[in-house]
Amino acid sequence: MIHVNVEVGNTRQFVGADVVEQVKADVLSAFDTTVARSGRGNDFLGWIDLPKDIDPALVKEMQTVAAQLKQRKVEVFVVIGIGGSYLGARAVIEALGHSFAPYGLGEGYPVVIYAGHNLDEDYVAQLLELLDHKNYAMAVISKSGTTTEPAIAFRLLKKHCEAKYGKADAKTRIFAITDRAKGALKGVADMEGYPQYVIPDDVGGRYSVLTPVGLLPIAVAGFDIAAMIEGANAMRDYVLANRNLEENPVLRYVVARNSLYRTGKKVEILVNYRPTLVYFTEWWKQLYGESEGKENRGIFPAGVTFTSDLHSMGQYIQEGERQVFETVLSVEGSARSVVVPNDEQNADGLNFLAGKHYKDINAMAELGTILAHVDGGVPNIRISVPQINERILGELIYFFEFACAVSGYTLGVNPFDQPGVEAYKKNMFALLNKPGYEAQSAAIRERVKNSGNANALREDGAERK
Ligand code: PA5
Repeated sequence: MIHVNVEVGNTRQFVGADVVEQVKADVLSAFDTTVARSGRGNDFLGWIDLPKDIDPALVKEMQTVAAQLKQRKVEVFVVIGIGGSYLGARAVIEALGHSFAPYGLGEGYPVVIYAGHNLDEDYVAQLLELLDHKNYAMAVISKSGTTTEPAIAFRLLKKHCEAKYGKADAKTRIFAITDRAKGALKGVADMEGYPQYVIPDDVGGRYSVLTPVGLLPIAVAGFDIAAMIEGANAMRDYVLANRNLEENPVLRYVVARNSLYRTGKKVEILVNYRPTLVYFTEWWKQLYGESEGKENRGIFPAGVTFTSDLHSMGQYIQEGERQVFETVLSVEGSARSVVVPNDEQNADGLNFLAGKHYKDINAMAELGTILAHVDGGVPNIRISVPQINERILGELIYFFEFACAVSGYTLGVNPFDQPGVEAYKKNMFALLNKPGYEAQSAAIRERVKNSGNANALREDGAERK
């Protein structure tokens, strides 16, 4: 049984029947291409069978490491990684975690924090300050093993850890998750003898939540990874067995979003109504942005959290440029119960809400907003789940991964590469004088000087405040 439901009724008035028919044919063909593994990038389709093929011994191992860290009273677990190497873990941990866990409300499990996903000096300095005072361990995660941001962060944290605990103890606190054979991280991990876990060759970063990339941090945070895998497996079984455009929720979603795209709706806003889903949205943005945005094509994935953002982005969505559509990720239940109290004086006039659950007020905010936005010309797809738990997150992860692959093929791109990410790296390496980039360094300096931005060059020794 699966718990993800997709409603597309509020898209129909915006799309012509001829467009929908054409998109349906294209989506079925893209579904077949995905299942037959015959499309572009098909050496990165390992995620399709991942929930079925995960070795139970690996799951056990992740749980054992988590239990050992808890027993050692590790307070902070640092996940070092960028893009697909941290967003999946963060999405699940924040969706399941206590909103105020950093204040000690996390039931005795380490608080998971993140590094290596930015180059902000103050962020790293503050992280080192924190780690001075905490009992900590870390996972360094990089499939390529060569990505600059996590590599620099790891160099710093490795030194900090060795200085604080000594080299021998540090080796029991550092876990490396990387390629089975190649990359600088693999070399360091072999040399130091860290515990290592492998990212399979045929699974790309943004599809890697169900490998040790996601499983280890999620287990360390105290969540049930076996239930998450079970949920992903249930969705896998359902999706692969249902080549039916009306029944299969993945296909309903893909048809709806691609029909809207072909009608000129170029921006998809993923809407949630609970702040703990902000990083689920970030994970989704990365999955779809990196998979579809290429060859001058692709829906731009954006995200908002309502009702907070109804007081900022809500104005634009209601009345701004009409190139947007919304996909609401609606969680119908809640794990806890809070009811608005009655007040005898009713000076605030809120007694009409007395006795109502927050979740029911939230549901009416959602419904009212959907109706208003549809009236304002914003089509709406609604993806609902009864609640958030490990199993349902597993279902959602597989749902969005499969939909992304089929959608990418419908669009005519390779959903599994990211050639555009290299452009900034080449310029950055040239500007930082990386060995091997001498010619590019000279050329880029000339370019910057002639563009009037010479002031932006931070030549050696230049101090900026
Ligand atoms: O999805 C992807 O492939 C990327 O976002 C990568 O996860 C990201 O660039 C990090 O790469 P790596 O894990 O090689 O450090």
